[in-house]
Amino acid sequence: MKFGYFDDKKREYVISTPQTPYPWINYLGNGAFFSIISNTSGGYSFYRDARLRRITRYRYNNIPLDSNGKYFYIRDEQTLWSPSWKPAKTELDKYECRHGLGYSTFLGEKNLCRAQVTCFVPDEANAEIQLLTLENLSQKTKKLKIHSFVEWCLWNALEDNTNFQRNFSTGQVEIEGSTLYHKTEFRERRNHYAFYHVNTPIKGYDTDREKFLGLYNGIEAPDAVMNGTAYNTEAHGWSPIASHFIEVDLKPGEKKQLVFVLGYVELPDKDKFFGNQIINKTPAKEIISRYDTADKALASLQLVVNKWEKLLGGYQTSTPDEKFNRMVNIWNQYQCVVTYYFSRSASYFESGIGRGMGFRDSNQDLLGFMHIMPQLAKQRIIDIASTQFEDGGAYHQYQPLTKRGNSDVGGNFNDDPLWLIAAVSAYIRETGDTDILAESVPFDNNENNKASLFEHLKRSFDHVINNLGPHKLPLIGRADWNDCLNLNCFSNNPDESFQITENKSGGAAESVFIAGMFIKYGREYAEVCNLMKNPGEAKRAVRYVEEMVASVDQHGWDGEWFLRAYDYFGEKVGSHTCEESKIFIEPQGFCIMAGIGLDDGRATKTLESVNKYLACDHGIVLNYPAFTKYYIQYGEISSYPQGYKENAGVFSHNNPWVIIAETLVGNGDRAYDYFSRISPAHTEDKSELRKMEPYVFAQMIAGKEAYKPGEAKNSWLTGAAAWTFVAASQYILGVRPGFYGLEVDPCIPKQWKEISVTRKYRNAVYEIKIMNGSGKGKGVKEMIVDGAKVTGNVLPVFSDGKTHKVEVAI
Ligand code: GLC
Ligand code: GLC
Repeated sequence: MKFGYFDDKKREYVISTPQTPYPWINYLGNGAFFSIISNTSGGYSFYRDARLRRITRYRYNNIPLDSNGKYFYIRDEQTLWSPSWKPAKTELDKYECRHGLGYSTFLGEKNLCRAQVTCFVPDEANAEIQLLTLENLSQKTKKLKIHSFVEWCLWNALEDNTNFQRNFSTGQVEIEGSTLYHKTEFRERRNHYAFYHVNTPIKGYDTDREKFLGLYNGIEAPDAVMNGTAYNTEAHGWSPIASHFIEVDLKPGEKKQLVFVLGYVELPDKDKFFGNQIINKTPAKEIISRYDTADKALASLQLVVNKWEKLLGGYQTSTPDEKFNRMVNIWNQYQCVVTYYFSRSASYFESGIGRGMGFRDSNQDLLGFMHIMPQLAKQRIIDIASTQFEDGGAYHQYQPLTKRGNSDVGGNFNDDPLWLIAAVSAYIRETGDTDILAESVPFDNNENNKASLFEHLKRSFDHVINNLGPHKLPLIGRADWNDCLNLNCFSNNPDESFQITENKSGGAAESVFIAGMFIKYGREYAEVCNLMKNPGEAKRAVRYVEEMVASVDQHGWDGEWFLRAYDYFGEKVGSHTCEESKIFIEPQGFCIMAGIGLDDGRATKTLESVNKYLACDHGIVLNYPAFTKYYIQYGEISSYPQGYKENAGVFSHNNPWVIIAETLVGNGDRAYDYFSRISPAHTEDKSELRKMEPYVFAQMIAGKEAYKPGEAKNSWLTGAAAWTFVAASQYILGVRPGFYGLEVDPCIPKQWKEISVTRKYRNAVYEIKIMNGSGKGKGVKEMIVDGAKVTGNVLPVFSDGKTHKVEVAI
């Protein structure tokens, strides 16, 4: 069952009913000002940091769900309706929501009146623009009464949700003409305010929520709206809002357009006020003047559309599978950009006040983003590395506004440091820019304690070597990639956090997964050393990598798959000898990606085990059989009911590791099959079960042992975005940036006869046509570049700004 369809030409998902199985959202933003917007216009806006600079208010897990947003009410005689269905919830004659790249539109029709709202955040201003187009489709003149509505957040979203004894006395607004200003706390330390404007004279306004709504009314029937008026209230304390009241007359066939601007302004201290506590409105007026006509707004929207076309142009493919194409060409890349900006901070599952930017997460997000905006990737790498400790360890997260690490979710996740190597290696392979390694980067944000980025990588590498356990495998610390496998944190106290408790600090639990990572990224580190003309360090690195390979061979192999870990007591985790959870996905994918077992049959054997025990219709589950009871020595993992989250859910993030592993053993059919099991476009028909947006990956899909297998949760902000893009673009389609050129090594389904990839790489365009004449789907036989045969399968770095034609036979 579907609730919409893909419009690939416009790069939109078109939702044809407001009652989707869950709110289906989109992101609007320019790198600083952001809005999250659902298919019924729910959501909120913020500036840079969803916790510290929340502009409009949202209530998570509300009843009914998703019932705060930026709304319009239209009163047409006795009928009250909203173009996005909510909040009025009047049944519409026509409803359509189109989520596009960086914009969303809502089309509502009722009683021969059409309203279309187009929302976007322009590149050039910290504002969200709402273009409201009203059209009279009837033969009679219509006299419409329009109310807009936004509810301000008192900036700090956590305080806003909790500190009511203070909040209810702080709210302040100013009203001037058609602009409603929100200036709570501007008189004290804040140097920012927000405003909401419409480009037409208004009949009235409200800024006091209680008066506008009526204390005991819901958002679907505010008093002011029901009475067809406005009370011209000025909020003092309580909950300030901004609502314009406008009357619009439309002759038969007539169309009118209104432009609303929701903006954010920052001012230096000395410029804050014009006289006695009256805020300086000049910057707001400057923003407003840029969008004072519909044409200006549309021209700005066009720039957003053009920008996205350009951004996605770095990688485009054409294969026989249109669903695969739309994921690679449009939605997967789009999601990679969104995860770049938000890490795990703000979605409909991440409240914006919990997690900031993750050290591990943000590094991985870069893997799918590098080719889109390498300059931003570079800055992000520096920001992340700047939070690293001298000993190579890391804070687990940092706040995007302050860029400072914090220990809110603990530290000592011993995989963290290695992800920095992964990101830097990917950056260099993409750009060829080794200068980044010489950048001087602080430890723990201390400007007086800096070292080169290269030195940071060395510390990352050494952090593993300096933290080896009894089997010469890496100590796991609080956890590795799997936040919930807490092997040194024993907790029987419901009032403590699994991540922050580390009561077995002398703990000797070891991770085979980190071993796999160390081997893979340790080799990349050695390559980087070679690029730096430091063969001594490269040799040292390779030696340690080889030792780790030996440790995995000796202590990390379980006979038919790789072990997961050794626990605090030195017992095996993820072994056939275990009572439950005999096999875990993480080390299978990563050890094969590290090259272990490719030459002796263990890789194929492992992948057979994965297929047999872990794969199901909805993807590959994390572990099997699920834990059915609580094991104190394993931590959070067995706290989840079976089939959910880290306890045997399909964790989309690590499915691509197995997909990549399948391509390494040459099984393109299976790689593609696994991709299609978790891909939103491929499971669009199951939207009712899946619940989540059919255009983005979800972090988790309930696994085969769950109560409701196939039901997804936590869409958008997941490492699945970057990793599936890497798996699809670099391993299935096989066009991947190497240190010395663009490697071509596809592993496609056998029946795909021909595919093409257009890839921008180091200032040249490669138009690659791949012919699968052999029907094997893998193994480059011949490569012709601009008419001439080249040996091997690495495309040279041309850097000449030109387009090069490449023909590949497999
Ligand atoms: C979440 C976290 C990520 C972690 C994963 C597995 O996605 O953001 O850091 O690796 O869960 O626990
Ligand atoms: C990860 C996991 C989640 C866990 C959290 C704790 O995001 O997915 O299950 O609760 O980490 O930090």
